[in-house]
Amino acid sequence: MDEKTKLLEIKDLKKHFNIKGGGFRNKQTVKAVDGVSLHIFKGETLGLVGESGCGKTTLGRTIIRLYEPTSGSIIYDGKPIYDSEQKIAEKMLPYRRRMQIIFQDPSASLDPRMTVGEIVGEALDIHKLYQGKADRNDKIKNLLKAVGLNTEHANRFPHEFSGGQQQRIGIARALAVEPEFIVCDEPISALDVSIQSQVVNMLEDLQEERGLTYLFIAHDISVVRHISNRIGVMYLGNVVELAESFEIYKNPIHPYTKTLMSAVPIPDPEVTRSRERLILEGDIPSPINPPSGCKFHTRCPYAMDCCKEEVPEFKEYASGHYAACHLLDR
Ligand SMILES: Nc1ncnc2c1ncn2[C@@H]1O[C@H](COP(=O)(O)OP(=O)(O)O)[C@@H](O)[C@H]1O
Ligand code: SF4
Ligand SMILES: [Mg+2]
Repeated sequence: MDEKTKLLEIKDLKKHFNIKGGGFRNKQTVKAVDGVSLHIFKGETLGLVGESGCGKTTLGRTIIRLYEPTSGSIIYDGKPIYDSEQKIAEKMLPYRRRMQIIFQDPSASLDPRMTVGEIVGEALDIHKLYQGKADRNDKIKNLLKAVGLNTEHANRFPHEFSGGQQQRIGIARALAVEPEFIVCDEPISALDVSIQSQVVNMLEDLQEERGLTYLFIAHDISVVRHISNRIGVMYLGNVVELAESFEIYKNPIHPYTKTLMSAVPIPDPEVTRSRERLILEGDIPSPINPPSGCKFHTRCPYAMDCCKEEVPEFKEYASGHYAACHLLDR
């Protein structure tokens, strides 16, 4: 791994959606991503976990500007590509080659009227990545082989494939432009359990061969454990804790992470013994009217009076270990 060069950095990134509310002319704002700051090193896998609806997909899409941010900044490979204060919004076409995404639902993300060859070839066409027809065909075949499909599959349509094969097609499409960075948005959640590890192993092999950097999103912390160098934990639009994977497992410091970890069996008796058992009660509140102060205060077993009023700052408490919680300042 190219040690510790930041490929991507976001600061106070927000993505709010305006939606129609219940009443007449009643507008509401969904604070799907509500001020996230983090960086991703070249060659690493940053895992991103949190309950459904906490803003993982929105963050992944906003980072690569498939969604236009509401505010904040994005620096990619040292260059600001978006900055709301400095009014920077770079054209994304050149960056589309460098940043790609693999979607959660492979069947919904593949055009049913296009053959597999056309789907993969389209990415090559947009960026003119071949010299002549024969070269284009070779490239498509090589991409299909790289994801474990047969070259004859190029002439078939997405519905003729299993879920796992469809996800391989989605991965081939992402790889076609030879990207550096891929947002993997729950790439295995929709797949049969029996083939999930095959796809994860393939993504790991591809990362190794091609020097890829991943933002790997999952709703289950145990999925990202083995593949992530670091893990970020999201709650209601914010990253509340971020550290090396091992640290998150062994020494979670945010109460929300502790509740997530309580539910994960760990085959290390020492870690299990030293861990508190915390049960998370209640549902995740709505990002339309999120709780004041620390958004986790309505469910936090340690909530104090100040938690209702003051937003805890996301700070580095140990080397590379970030969290946002008032308890940690005591
Ligand atoms: N296009 C959109 N318009 C309005 N609300 C949205 C949109 N996309 C997502 N949301 C809302 O933003 C919140 C975060 O959603 P999402 O990013 O999909 O979460 P996750 O991927 O963690 O399940 C949810 O409340 C969701 O309903
Ligand atoms: S700031 Fe307060 S409510 Fe939030 S996680 Fe910490 S102790 Fe719990
Ligand atoms: Mg999602």
